[in-house]
Amino acid sequence: MKTKSTLVFGVLMAVLFGIGSVLAQSQFGQHLLRAQRPRPGAGILPPPTTTRPDFGSPLPGLTPGQLAAFAAGVEEFTNEETVASGLGPIFNHVSCVACHSGPAVGGSSDIVVTRFGRTVNGVFDPLTEKGGSLLQQFSIDPAVREVVPPEANTIARRRTTPLFGLGLMEAIPDDAIRQGALRQKPDGVAGRISEVTDITTGQVRVGRFGWKLQQATLLAFAADAYLNEMGITSRFFPKENAPNGSAVLATLFDTTLDPEDEVNPATGRGDVDALADFMRLLGAPPRLPLSPSARAGEPLFAQIGCAVCHTPLMQTGPNRIAALDRKPVWLFSDLLLHDMGTLGDGIAQGAAKPREMRTAPLWGLRASPPYLHDGRAPTVHDAIAAHEGEGRVSRDRYLRLTMAQRRQLLDYLAAN
Ligand code: HEC
Ligand code: HEC
Repeated sequence: MKTKSTLVFGVLMAVLFGIGSVLAQSQFGQHLLRAQRPRPGAGILPPPTTTRPDFGSPLPGLTPGQLAAFAAGVEEFTNEETVASGLGPIFNHVSCVACHSGPAVGGSSDIVVTRFGRTVNGVFDPLTEKGGSLLQQFSIDPAVREVVPPEANTIARRRTTPLFGLGLMEAIPDDAIRQGALRQKPDGVAGRISEVTDITTGQVRVGRFGWKLQQATLLAFAADAYLNEMGITSRFFPKENAPNGSAVLATLFDTTLDPEDEVNPATGRGDVDALADFMRLLGAPPRLPLSPSARAGEPLFAQIGCAVCHTPLMQTGPNRIAALDRKPVWLFSDLLLHDMGTLGDGIAQGAAKPREMRTAPLWGLRASPPYLHDGRAPTVHDAIAAHEGEGRVSRDRYLRLTMAQRRQLLDYLAAN
């Protein structure tokens, strides 16, 4: 919900239109980075030591109207909720940017959330009636604080993923992902699509967002995160999260009228739509020119079988937004679920089984440590070495590379 004065927004808009035609995209991004970097101490990462102005820029080639929508989205994304504006009763943080912060607004952080459930004979129960599977760590009153219930025997941490380029990922046609699943693959690699019902349309779609491919559209993810990370109800999720499953407590401590994200009757849109706009129009991580070492690493990536899952390039379909219309997407993921053996997080969610994980997109890798779903890997090398299950054959080939070849592969990954 909006609590800030419209003055801030007005100033931002003036700046946007003032510089839009004069400055290159990168400088625009740099400006935005300065203007919007959250205050220190607000639970976010310290400012990056090197400036990477291009992370956080909008997609190139947006119209003035789309740039305005992007700016309005940034405003919503950085807005801190309060009890008065609907925060809680239980929540994980006060704004989207509190977690999605580095190296620019919309990025990642080492903040993890907790999932829990109970596994009996290999069958996972999310303990929905006890508030699972996502834990809300904080509450607006100690009396409603959620805890991991004693019957939970499966507890997993999930790291915050960066949001750069998600509009391009959203614009990849379902069929392109389906095709990838049907392709024959070497090294014992399979790969399944995740079919999910998109709450915003009721349609069955191919999931592409989240560690478990649990969402297909940015609007659905925005509404889900608004409720589950911040406790803001919307037209898609009009009911508050019940602390450890207690609907009585939820009602008792919910002081604001639901849905808290009100729809503007003139436009039919709420804050969740602005959040989706921001993510949809947020540019991809900038690719760096390949050094000679990185260039030598490129064929290695394919030769040792990384590209079987980490598909370097996909393509968006026809799109009414020109900047998303039939564009290349250098995401390094097949957007499929793979059985990663012991690396899997043990949580069944949506279409994903406990050991199945989304092939993590590798674009912008250099700006999003630590790695893997729980952040256990401080370096890219550690992340590769931890591959198991369907990733094991390729991992073993990586571990047999010479030190010089490993360096080349890592240099290649750092440029994407
Ligand atoms: C408490 C920290 C936290 C807050 C607050 C938060 N997120 Fe996230 N975000 C995460 C984590 C952790 C994940 C990975 C979730 C998963 O897949 O289990 C994530 C994933 C996402 C993704 C999927 C990205 C991908 O790679 O597929 C989107 C989209 C997203 N968040 C949007 C939002 C929006 C919009 C808000 C504000 C309404 C928000 N998030 C607030 C922690 C947070
Ligand atoms: C069977 C499919 C598969 C193969 C083959 C594979 N990966 Fe992965 N990769 C994944 C999955 C799935 C994840 C996410 C795992 C998790 O976090 O639990 C991942 C995660 C990663 C990550 C961490 C990304 C992040 O943001 O946390 C890196 C780096 C990576 N892979 C590189 C490689 C390299 C290099 C190779 C080749 C040696 C490779 N992968 C082979 C499926 C695969």
